[in-house]
Amino acid sequence: MPVNPEPRDAALATAVPEGYSLRILTEDEVFDAAAIELEVFPRDAWTVPMLQAEFTGPYRIYLGVFDENSTMVGYAGAMRGGDSIEIMTVGVIETARGKGLGRTLTMALLRAGKAAGVEMAFLEVRESNEIAASLYRSLGFEEIDRRKRYYHQPTEDAVIMACKLD
Ligand SMILES: CC(C)(COP(=O)(O)OP(=O)(O)OC[C@H]1O[C@@H](n2cnc3c(N)ncnc32)[C@H](O)[C@@H]1OP(=O)(O)O)[C@@H](O)C(=O)NCCC(=O)NCCS
Repeated sequence: MPVNPEPRDAALATAVPEGYSLRILTEDEVFDAAAIELEVFPRDAWTVPMLQAEFTGPYRIYLGVFDENSTMVGYAGAMRGGDSIEIMTVGVIETARGKGLGRTLTMALLRAGKAAGVEMAFLEVRESNEIAASLYRSLGFEEIDRRKRYYHQPTEDAVIMACKLD
């Protein structure tokens, strides 16, 4: 995706809830993203080096949502591989949840994928994460498979979900 500016434009054209803004994240913003990781995924947060590798890796797009003080309150990223994208992460800090920001971030990634000519989007979610699964289902994702005991602390299955981008 980074080689072609159009998918980024498509992502940034996504409607954003009032009072918030959406931006493509740069490598300088990994520390803010790492702080969100720690809050949102305390048991298995991505580290700064992992985030640096993601933000600078090929075929990646990372987006952040910011409040009126320009504080990052959520972020999400995807990786393109062939004719599909994988949503790597979506996280919104607790105080900013329920305002449509998770939906905005996920939709923006799907729009970027679509603009890149991608046909399918995939993701993995903990089987107990009904809130995220309900967001994904509302955007057209369906369960296609499970990876047994994929996650730890606590151990549980990963639900693999797919969405056709048409
Ligand atoms: C999942 C997450 C990103 C959703 O972010 P959010 O900004 O609160 O979500 P939104 O306000 O955009 O809501 C989108 C949808 O999520 C679902 N949802 C959000 N909050 C919910 C709640 N408390 N109960 C049930 N469903 C909920 C609903 O389907 C909602 O759609 P609706 O508003 O039309 O009902 C956020 O809860 C989060 O960061 N959770 C921790 C990290 C995580 O689990 N990430 C996903 C890993 S795969």
